[in-house]
Amino acid sequence: MTPKGLPICRMAPLGMLLGLLIASCFTFCFSHQNTKEFALTNPDKSTTKETERMETTEEELDPEILEVFHPSHEWQALRPGQAVPAGSHVRLNLQTGAREVKLKDEDKFRNTLKGSKKGKRLDIDTNTYTSQDLKSALAKFKEGAKMESSKEDKARQAEVKRLFRPIEKLKKEFEELNVVIETDMQIMVRLINKFNSSSSSLEEKIAALFDLEYYVHQMDNAQDLLSFGGLQVVINGLNSTEPLVKEYAAFVLGAAFSSNPKVQVEAIEGGALQKLLVILATEQPLAAKKKVLFALCSLLRHFPYAQQQFLKLGGLQVLRSLVQEKGTEVLAVRVVTLLYDLVTEKMFAEEEAELTRETSPEKLQQYRQVQLLPSLREQGWCEITAHLLALPEHDAREKVLQTLGAFLVTCRDHYHQDPELSRRLASLQAEYQVLAAQELRDGEDEGYFRELLGSIDSLLTELR
Ligand SMILES: *[C@@H]1O[C@H](CO)[C@@H](O)[C@H](O)[C@H]1NC(C)=O
Ligand SMILES: *[C@@H]1O[C@H](CO)[C@@H](O)[C@H](O)[C@H]1NC(C)=O
Repeated sequence: MTPKGLPICRMAPLGMLLGLLIASCFTFCFSHQNTKEFALTNPDKSTTKETERMETTEEELDPEILEVFHPSHEWQALRPGQAVPAGSHVRLNLQTGAREVKLKDEDKFRNTLKGSKKGKRLDIDTNTYTSQDLKSALAKFKEGAKMESSKEDKARQAEVKRLFRPIEKLKKEFEELNVVIETDMQIMVRLINKFNSSSSSLEEKIAALFDLEYYVHQMDNAQDLLSFGGLQVVINGLNSTEPLVKEYAAFVLGAAFSSNPKVQVEAIEGGALQKLLVILATEQPLAAKKKVLFALCSLLRHFPYAQQQFLKLGGLQVLRSLVQEKGTEVLAVRVVTLLYDLVTEKMFAEEEAELTRETSPEKLQQYRQVQLLPSLREQGWCEITAHLLALPEHDAREKVLQTLGAFLVTCRDHYHQDPELSRRLASLQAEYQVLAAQELRDGEDEGYFRELLGSIDSLLTELR
């Protein structure tokens, strides 16, 4: 099978830490971006986006109680909607995501209770399980909580509620159990403290960042991070002398910036852009640079002010050096994709303004100040991009071809004078003619190779 159509990231799995698999596949940073969103330097005016708040942990603990479960001395799975009598021990099974319950063991329980008074999330021993287990278990846990409330028959619930103790009372009893549940905010504060503490080991710091990343995907959580100075702590983490800390700080930031104008604005004010560029410009492990590049594009995306700053700080030179290093082909394609996205984003903003007359003048003005195409041309990106066409992977070529197309307005004469480019395009044309024909014989008349061939044909036409 050919790898056609697959995002590049599937072929280049991300680095792994402590054997933890990062499940998310970055088609780079833009896949989750809402194109309507953009950040102005005046956050109050422009952050209209409301995300539906995912159920808070309190809501999760508020299932419609249908029956009381009678625990034994063995762990047993608790079904959604089942209540446990006071004195039971409840835990989250990390393999299945199910809540499990048994009668408590008095001595042990008293000890854990002390620790849990301040709110430990269920009974999870994070030293025994990988964070990934924890995450998927928590995800299942949340899912389960959602499903149970939507599925239930309301009339039956009302009946059952009438028969059982009021929810409030039940919650209180839950608190007396070993199921004090932290809010996301409490968890984030704890993780930031762990990361910020000089007594934490490197491993603990990385684990804290790794866990934090899970929370800041939610827009509200990322904004809450601002409220107690947590974002700045993570941004300062980019200054760490430990490459792993840099890498995982960038991992958190990439998630926190994504489609989150308020956070993007704060990050610029907190100096994140400079720090990200410094890492890209200096000798660092490839894994760190990958995540930093990801954070950079999350920060720049839909944020013309940041894009201006990026150009002012010499961001394009930094990216150029990065692309020209040996062994960074993966990064090169991502860089080119970033540039493509920035160019088209600006183009769309201007087109939209022309067509709909709905774009705010402020937004348009900020985009107009981003002198991206002229800078790209000046700094040799016409040639750099053309050279990348030599990459062997279809996906890489696809990205490069689309970027060549987007740069055409400014790079046309460069392309014309580049005999290597015409030769390369002609040879790719021949290659994809064969593949597209095969594809057609296989019954795919809107195939991937045919599409690639189309881009090549139109580029060649433009350059004739
Ligand atoms: C992080 O640690 C520093 C130095 O110990 C402290 O001044 C700062 O308040 C801490 N930040 C947070 C958000 O806890
Ligand atoms: C972090 O690094 C940047 C550039 O390397 C430097 O300018 C800045 O002073 C450093 N900040 C801290 C808090 O160490």
